[in-house]
Amino acid sequence: MNNEHEQQEHAAGSSKWICTANHSFIAYAQEELRRRFGQVKATVLIPDEVIVVTLPADVIEVQRQLQTDPLIFLRHIQPVALEVDYASLESSQAISALQGYLGTKSELKPGQTVAVQIRKGNVEATNLDLQELKASLDHTLTEAGVEVVTRGSDWIISVFMDKELLYVGLSTPSENLSDWSGGALRFQREEGQISRAKFKLLEAERAFGLDLADFKEGLDIGAAPGGWTSLLLERGLKVTAIDPAAMHPSLADHRRLTILKKNASEVKLGDSQFDLLVCDMSWSPMQMVRLVADLLYALRSGGTAIVTVKLMHKKPLQTIRDITEKFSEHLEVRRLKQLVHNRDEITLYMVKY
Ligand SMILES: C[S@@+](CC[C@H](N)C(=O)[O-])C[C@H]1O[C@@H](n2cnc3c(N)ncnc32)[C@H](O)[C@@H]1O
Repeated sequence: MNNEHEQQEHAAGSSKWICTANHSFIAYAQEELRRRFGQVKATVLIPDEVIVVTLPADVIEVQRQLQTDPLIFLRHIQPVALEVDYASLESSQAISALQGYLGTKSELKPGQTVAVQIRKGNVEATNLDLQELKASLDHTLTEAGVEVVTRGSDWIISVFMDKELLYVGLSTPSENLSDWSGGALRFQREEGQISRAKFKLLEAERAFGLDLADFKEGLDIGAAPGGWTSLLLERGLKVTAIDPAAMHPSLADHRRLTILKKNASEVKLGDSQFDLLVCDMSWSPMQMVRLVADLLYALRSGGTAIVTVKLMHKKPLQTIRDITEKFSEHLEVRRLKQLVHNRDEITLYMVKY
């Protein structure tokens, strides 16, 4: 192993990371990192989406902070423990540099499972074949008695290929903030699925550690055509769906569903009737907050609210601050996160005081 190509792990007081956000939101993730850690030295790897950063805190401290108080726009982060200048090496030399690195990792022992996630930046043809690299790493790991899996692994080896460098690191899925390469989680589209919006609520359930089946009665504000409503029904809830627009015909006669074909400002609901409120209205954020706040009498104390917020203006961080402040009058804001399935939105997870 050529030490010129290696970066020492846990270099005193600083660490290097590859950070990914939804397309066109990496600048906000970078700003969040700057506010959290102070100075951030960043280089773009994929415009608007992926950067490599040096943070003025060691690996353990960065991971601790991001786990205990996650950022909104940072979708995925992977540590950089090794940089291999593959452009100036024969492909076999680059591969053995990575194999050598794996050989030093005592975490990779028999009985452990590992996923190898390889991503590429805006790189044209190279001297290094990524399939060959993956096959070689899988082989090395298997030889060492480690089981190579795709998902649900104990460890992830992340490799990011930039124009000249391979950035390599070892971490756990939760340290990466996602089990998926680059955090790009995907759900399988189902037969008869009413809307893609359903994926948002599925992802929120997972991201916020909820089980929607734990709730009994849900209120869906801005429900049409019914993707979220259909998921709540599948999870066994009784649902009231509010929307002036039409719900999908497949939901028309569901015995646990009440459809109020009205503007949300015109409905009358029971006091503390619901233990779950969801809202996916894609509307002006402040108007949406007022509308939801006016219906909060129908959510019982301790009930959960999941709300998407459209980031309509040029200053999303300011919009988020305003909205959080407003909701905090009624709800404990537990988590704000831009989900993979949020386009120009974020999703809030809140609990009523
Ligand atoms: C993005 S769609 C919701 C998609 C839905 N979550 C799904 O899974 O199919 C937004 C909906 O909000 C509804 N909406 C907008 N303003 C509303 C209001 N004031 N009251 C009730 N619904 C409203 C729109 O009619 C639209 O159907």
